[in-house]
Amino acid sequence: KIVPVIMAGGKGTRLWPLSRATAAKQFIRFIGDKTLFQGTLARVADKSRYEPPLVVTNEEFRFLVAEQAREMGAALSGIVLEPEARNTAAAVAVAALIVANLYGNDTLLQVLPSDHDIVSDETYRKCVDAAVTAARAGKIVTFGITPTEPATGYGYIEMGEALTAGANTVKRFVEKPQVEDAEKMLAAGNYFWNSGMFVFTAGQILSELRLLAPDVAAAAEKSVLASSKDLDFIRLDANAFGESPSISIDYAVMEKTDNAAVVPSPISWSDLGSWDAVWKLGDADANGNVVSGNATLVNTHNSLVMSRNNHLAVQGMDGVAVIASEDAVYVGRLDESQQVGNLVKLLAADE
Ligand code: GDD
Ligand code: MG
Repeated sequence: KIVPVIMAGGKGTRLWPLSRATAAKQFIRFIGDKTLFQGTLARVADKSRYEPPLVVTNEEFRFLVAEQAREMGAALSGIVLEPEARNTAAAVAVAALIVANLYGNDTLLQVLPSDHDIVSDETYRKCVDAAVTAARAGKIVTFGITPTEPATGYGYIEMGEALTAGANTVKRFVEKPQVEDAEKMLAAGNYFWNSGMFVFTAGQILSELRLLAPDVAAAAEKSVLASSKDLDFIRLDANAFGESPSISIDYAVMEKTDNAAVVPSPISWSDLGSWDAVWKLGDADANGNVVSGNATLVNTHNSLVMSRNNHLAVQGMDGVAVIASEDAVYVGRLDESQQVGNLVKLLAADE
């Protein structure tokens, strides 16, 4: 069986003001009745395929994780608490060590971001099966999404020759390219976006980390050895964990390893990283508007309007996001939504 590892420690600042330091986007209901984190739990609920998931998060989010899992009736293998955010390489290292201790080195892990919208259908399950086959053959497996635009917020995967059923080797992995390079890779046609999910055995990812990111691996090992457990919570040793460089698994391992594979995945996938992604995914009305909450729109087109409780009135707008949380309002052009993170840096320290 596969152990799902759900990474739920990111802050998601580009979706301000609904997503913020105290309640990141993975814990928010955007569309439908589940939060993105709960949607992730639902995708790994099949007990014939999956062990209970291990969630890696931080102190601030621990009650959100526990409460939202309880709402779903989902048992967890544990909730790992990072004393500070050291990005995803450290999170994956720690998870692999804990899973290896619990279930052995040959155990398969499926690493899942907690903030994606993915349709879990037959196509998706076949892709996971193909990933499992390649992972059992010792590969670090990614899921390749067909790119539609020269987005700079994703990793790009150049596909190589056929490897195992449904999987190919990876010639090159480029994390978050400059737009000029993204345009070239899009035009080349043999590139995929990295979905952000990975499948590998605990032993294989640990040997990659020890080789390619030894400082991350060493800090993770010490922090797990000196960790303490209370109920579901696994608290990592703060001093040891703090010694890890802050680097993502994409830069630390995926760009460097010779051992990667990609499963071309024609799945319904959205990163929901920014307001334009939320707009694209929503149910647009005849004017191209996606509206949630209490809002009245006049002569407005191709816009995203969301309100938690105030009544929003929008007139004469095209291609904008108007987002009102309980205590803050964002107004901006949808084609600038990638830059909301920069705006948030200017705001109060707790954002
Ligand atoms: N536990 C923990 N600790 N989780 C974290 C941390 C951390 O320090 N930092 C981020 N995460 C979680 C986020 O909550 C999210 O679920 C996941 O890890 C991925 O982090 P992001 O910050 O959202 O990464 P990204 O979107 O910039 O890039 C990744 O995903 C893209 C697809 O959405 C990369 O893997 C790209 O290559 C990929 O294309
Ligand atoms: Mg993301």
